[in-house]
Amino acid sequence: MIHAVLFCSCCFLLDGVFGVETDEINVSVMEGDSFTLRTGLTDIQSDDEIEWRFGSSKTRITRIAAGNVTEYDDERFRDRLQLERQTGDLTITNVSNEHSGVYQLSIIINNKKSIKRFVVIVYAPVPVPVIFSDVSQCSLSAERSSRIVLCSVLNVSHVTLSWYKGISVLSSISVSDLSISLSLPLEVEYQDNTYSCVIYNPVSNQTKHLDISGLCQICSDCNLCFDTPEAVIRLVVTALMGVAAVVAVVLLVNDIRRVGRAQTNK
Ligand SMILES: *[C@@H]1O[C@H](CO)[C@@H](O)[C@H](O)[C@H]1NC(C)=O
Ligand SMILES: *[C@@H]1O[C@H](CO)[C@@H](O)[C@H](O)[C@H]1NC(C)=O
Ligand SMILES: *[C@@H]1O[C@H](CO)[C@@H](O)[C@H](O)[C@H]1NC(C)=O
Ligand SMILES: *[C@@H]1O[C@H](CO)[C@@H](O)[C@H](O)[C@H]1NC(C)=O
Ligand SMILES: *[C@@H]1O[C@H](CO)[C@@H](O)[C@H](O)[C@H]1NC(C)=O
Repeated sequence: MIHAVLFCSCCFLLDGVFGVETDEINVSVMEGDSFTLRTGLTDIQSDDEIEWRFGSSKTRITRIAAGNVTEYDDERFRDRLQLERQTGDLTITNVSNEHSGVYQLSIIINNKKSIKRFVVIVYAPVPVPVIFSDVSQCSLSAERSSRIVLCSVLNVSHVTLSWYKGISVLSSISVSDLSISLSLPLEVEYQDNTYSCVIYNPVSNQTKHLDISGLCQICSDCNLCFDTPEAVIRLVVTALMGVAAVVAVVLLVNDIRRVGRAQTNK
C-alpha cells in the first residue's frame, strides 16, 4: 500500500547551465510490502545519468550511467532491490524499519541536473487494542450509571488511539517515533454499547467494540476485567497499569468533562 503525496517543488538555477529542481514526496509503506519510487522518465538514453542514494549519509544504492547499471553492495538492500532499466524506477521489496529514510534521486539529462527526494516511512501493522477495567469499578456499577474503562496497546510507534461513540471521536492520543505502550481511559455509561476503541496509522487500523456487560461478567473472579479472557494479555496489561495511571491523570479530566457534557445534552 503506497500513498505518495507531492510535498514541495522548488527550482533554482546554478550558473546558468545547470538547473536543479527539487521535489519531495512522502511515501508510507507497510512492513513486509514493497514500494516503487518513480523517476517520471520513460526512456533513458545512453548519455543520461540516474543515481539513487539513501539515508542521511547519502550512501549510493544504484546508478545508471553510459547505459550501464551499477548496484553498490549494501547489506540493507541485498536481494531486495529492483531497478527498471528503461525508466530508472527503484523498487525495494519486503521492507522493514531499516528501509525508512530519505531516498535521493538525481537525474542528469543534457547537462541539466534534477533531484527528487522520497521520504519513506515503513509502518508496522497496528495491533488489536485491549479494553479493560478495574474490578472495583465493576462492584460500583450497580450503584453507578457509568464506569471507567481503558483501551491499551503495547509497544507501538506512529499510531493514534481513539475512543469513539458511534462515529464521533471522544478522545485521542498519538505517539510518533517512540516505541511505547499507550492507554486511553474513558468513562462510559453502563447501558451504552456504542463505544469503540480504534487504533490507526497511515497503512492500517483496528477497531475494538466495547461490550460493557461482557466486561463485567468476566470480572467476577479476577482483579481486572478484560474484553478477552487470555491470561497472557491479563499479565501484560497488569504491568501496564502504571503507565495507564499516568496517562489517566492527564486525560481523565477531559473525558469526564466530555461525558458530562454529553449527558447534560440529553
Ligand atoms: C510529508 O511528511 C512531513 C513529515 O512527516 C509532513 O510534515 C508533511 O506535512 C508531509 N507532507 C504531506 C503533503 O503530507
Ligand atoms: C559500460 O559497459 C561497457 C561494456 O561493459 C564498458 O566498456 C564501459 O566502460 C562501461 N561504461 C562505464 C561508464 O562504466
Ligand atoms: C522478508 O524479510 C525478513 C527479514 O526482514 C525475512 O525474515 C523474510 O524471510 C523475508 N521474506 C521474504 C518473502 O523474502
Ligand atoms: C518493542 O518494539 C521494538 C521495535 O519494534 C522491538 O525491538 C522490541 O523488542 C519491542 N519490545 C517489546 C517488549 O515487545
Ligand atoms: C481501515 O482499514 C480499512 C482496510 O483494512 C480501510 O478500508 C479503511 O478505510 C481504514 N479506515 C481508516 C479510518 O483508515
